Amino acid sequence: MAALEVKDLCKTYIVNKRQLNILKNVSFTVDEGEMVAIMGPSGSGKSTLLYSVSGMDKATAGSVKLCGTEITDMSEKEMADYRLKKMGFIFQQMNMLKNLTVYDNIILPGYEAHTGKSRAEIDEKARELMHKMEISEIGDNDITEVSGGQLQRACICRSLINSPEILFADEPTGALNQSSSEEVMRMLAKLNGEGMTIMLVTHDMKSAAKCSRILYIVDGNIKGELQLGKLAEDGKEFTENDIRARERKVGNWLESLGW
Ligand SMILES: Nc1ncnc2c1ncn2[C@@H]1O[C@H](COP(=O)(O)OP(=O)(O)O)[C@@H](O)[C@H]1O
Ligand SMILES: [Mg+2]
Repeated sequence: MAALEVKDLCKTYIVNKRQLNILKNVSFTVDEGEMVAIMGPSGSGKSTLLYSVSGMDKATAGSVKLCGTEITDMSEKEMADYRLKKMGFIFQQMNMLKNLTVYDNIILPGYEAHTGKSRAEIDEKARELMHKMEISEIGDNDITEVSGGQLQRACICRSLINSPEILFADEPTGALNQSSSEEVMRMLAKLNGEGMTIMLVTHDMKSAAKCSRILYIVDGNIKGELQLGKLAEDGKEFTENDIRARERKVGNWLESLGW
């Protein structure tokens, strides 16, 4: 089944009485279990696309179906509730609350969603996620006391606390150094290998090479698509050679698009 079905999506901003068409009839589908990277020049509409398909921003026209449910005609309140329960989000600028520990930041959306889960159930989910993201030991830390890579992995835990259907990420490695980027992307690929559907925006060719498919957007339209297949399937290990081969393929493809 399609996790995400986008049809003729348009997004327009009015600035100084001028109409700016940022997304121009964008259509694509993301199947359950895919990990799709959105690439393209700066200002091409990548973030706008991510926000419009995830209901963080209202589309001007077109249809967005998330697991079969049309989200463009939801009220703001319905949308907020749907987002909290069905979608996970990761951002470049992390958005963690400074006065809470890492652990409390992770569990907070678990309470906000009012799903009727008990404290014990939310705790168990948080512990399981932190174990998987290899940050079990930093739960009691202040968010200022951990590395950027650890903090982004905590953000991944937070985004998954309500077991969403799909994970959206806007440049999740944009603020990280090379080794932390690698860490975070390996974790996302591992989650995808276990079945999580992921759509992410990235500027980084190495990050994109770990995704199963890449869409290239220019000036509000999809101009290219590269099918790579999953990096990790069901916990199967991948080698450095697998990764290098994918990076070469992505590099050549991007070059052909004038990247
Ligand atoms: N709220 C807004 N009002 C007006 N223009 C906007 C707004 N948000 C984004 N834009 C414009 O839309 C274009 C695409 O922005 P964005 O989606 O952030 O690009 P990208 O993420 O690909 O760098 C840019 O030209 C940007 O200036
Ligand atoms: Mg952006």
